[in-house]
Amino acid sequence: MCGIVGYVGKQNAVTIILEGLKRLEYRGYDSAGVCVQKGRKLDLLKKAGRVENLAKAAAQHRFTATTGIGHTRWATHGGVTDANAHPHVSSDGKFALIHNGVIENYAQIKAFLAGRGYTFKSETDTEVLCNLIAYHYAKEPVRAKSRQTRFVESVRKTLRHVEGTYGIAVLCVDFPGQIVGSRKASPLILGVGEHEYILASDASALVSRTQNVVYLKDGEIVHLTPESFSISTLDQADVSPVVDKIHWSVTAADMGKYAHFMEKEIFEQPAALENAMRGRFAADGSTAQFGGLNITPGEFRDLERFMFCACGTAWHACLVTEHLIERFARIPVEVDYASEFRYRNSPLDPRTLFFVMSQSGETIDTLAALREAKRKGYRVMAVNNVVGSSIAREADGGIYQHVGPEVGVASTKAFTSQLLIGAMIALYVARMRDMSFSDGVTYVNALKGVPELVRQALQQAPKIKAIARRYAQYHDMLFLGRLSLFPLALEGALKLKEISYIHAEGYPAAEMKHGPIALVSEKCPSVFFAPQGEIFNKIVSSMQEIKARKGPIIAITTEGAELPKGVADDVIHIPACHEAVLPIVAAIPVQLLSYYIAVERGCDVDKPRNLAKSVTVE
Ligand code: M6R
Repeated sequence: MCGIVGYVGKQNAVTIILEGLKRLEYRGYDSAGVCVQKGRKLDLLKKAGRVENLAKAAAQHRFTATTGIGHTRWATHGGVTDANAHPHVSSDGKFALIHNGVIENYAQIKAFLAGRGYTFKSETDTEVLCNLIAYHYAKEPVRAKSRQTRFVESVRKTLRHVEGTYGIAVLCVDFPGQIVGSRKASPLILGVGEHEYILASDASALVSRTQNVVYLKDGEIVHLTPESFSISTLDQADVSPVVDKIHWSVTAADMGKYAHFMEKEIFEQPAALENAMRGRFAADGSTAQFGGLNITPGEFRDLERFMFCACGTAWHACLVTEHLIERFARIPVEVDYASEFRYRNSPLDPRTLFFVMSQSGETIDTLAALREAKRKGYRVMAVNNVVGSSIAREADGGIYQHVGPEVGVASTKAFTSQLLIGAMIALYVARMRDMSFSDGVTYVNALKGVPELVRQALQQAPKIKAIARRYAQYHDMLFLGRLSLFPLALEGALKLKEISYIHAEGYPAAEMKHGPIALVSEKCPSVFFAPQGEIFNKIVSSMQEIKARKGPIIAITTEGAELPKGVADDVIHIPACHEAVLPIVAAIPVQLLSYYIAVERGCDVDKPRNLAKSVTVE
């Protein structure tokens, strides 16, 4: 949440910062601001609203400095106003600071500083942090020896007194051309370019200028000067930096011919899924293989239970994975919301393998669940898309999704790749237990066919667009599915509500009778997953119950399935397929339906209100 960019180099800092902020806008878009430093002068500009507002104002302002910091905000403390936008400047005018995260003890610090004459213009925790740096700086003795380190030492002292989470970048008037940054549970990456450094909350903000990056760790402080950078810890230990390479370029994060990132990401799913499975089938063609799990087949075979934790869409992917592991590998699986698990003190069996799933790898609740499980002595695996993310680095092993940057706030290609990887985990474990070689081969072939099946499902787009037009003005909608498609009902409802603001709920179809059916009327349509299969007739019965109460129905069914005439108002067909891949194929029509409904309603699809792509605050 919140995007951070800092620049030290030879170019116009504001041009580079604004480009970075535009790419980071998906992290938060309530307000934006920049502060540059020229000599001993700070020049600040902040605007409520989108980065575009700031860019227009910056064009009038004609900034020329080569050092600066910029921020796009997702509000936590304080409303969406120019005053609450970042950067914040200390009341003595010496420091400017941008911040991602939450300072939990800010009220105590604020009272402490107010008692010492510091004043505040905003309601934010960030301004408090900035003033605490100014306080420590003022107290720091100005000895010849300490002069050079005074800036970084005051930040270090401040951070030792702070509780909560932060990714920060700070300017100080007395140190032109320098930035000090640090992180704790909020991502911060240093881009090492040609005669320039860029500090950012994620790689998309800097990849157009450099692919060489240093992933900062929690509790590290980076000090940038025009000539060099150094990293140390809060305890003053020097850190030898490891420069990694980003293996994707800026074009992967561009929209290309599409109207929205979400549309692009929906349509690139065949290729994304191809990438997610590449190199992950064993030579005998009967099982999956994973390079990064760091766990032996023997250890895997001895497991008695799996636990999965995640948030939002990734949690839905875990629910499907639960179904597949239990169905094919016959091992009990538990799935929990990461935000609940971290406080719930759930009893875990010693032979449990703990998994977290997270596209961004920065979701704070998921990261906290991972840490809690590790603290309890469990080995934790991560299914994660962003290489080098906090979760990827802290997990004991993991599986990268390899689907490239996902920019649209509504998760699409990350979701289907999580489903694919979940299906591969189920296969891997099943083949260590009771699944036969030939069933394994059938399963593998089904997985290999997924990109083509998804391609076929995407061909329904024009039809789904026409259906979306007819359903775009409803206020409520239900999504109903059973077994592995019950989580798809939850996902369909989440997708629709987050981008179109239509109230939607997902239920197991047979649960309707236990309450939700009271909502059904001609004003509340239901989207039914009704694939051919063992319980097809049961699903059809549930549809008839809705029809009897005049509820409009959109049915998503497999080719060849015969729905009784008149039971559905609209029917979307998906290819018939193996049950392990059915949830992936079934995801396509609900993604398209919510996308086209949101477009029809004139919603800002990639930047839905109140949301941000990765939720790095609790
Ligand atoms: O980056 P993560 O996968 O950890 O994100 C988890 C959720 O915040 C995310 O899936 C969210 O629910 C999406 N906006 C759904 O489209």
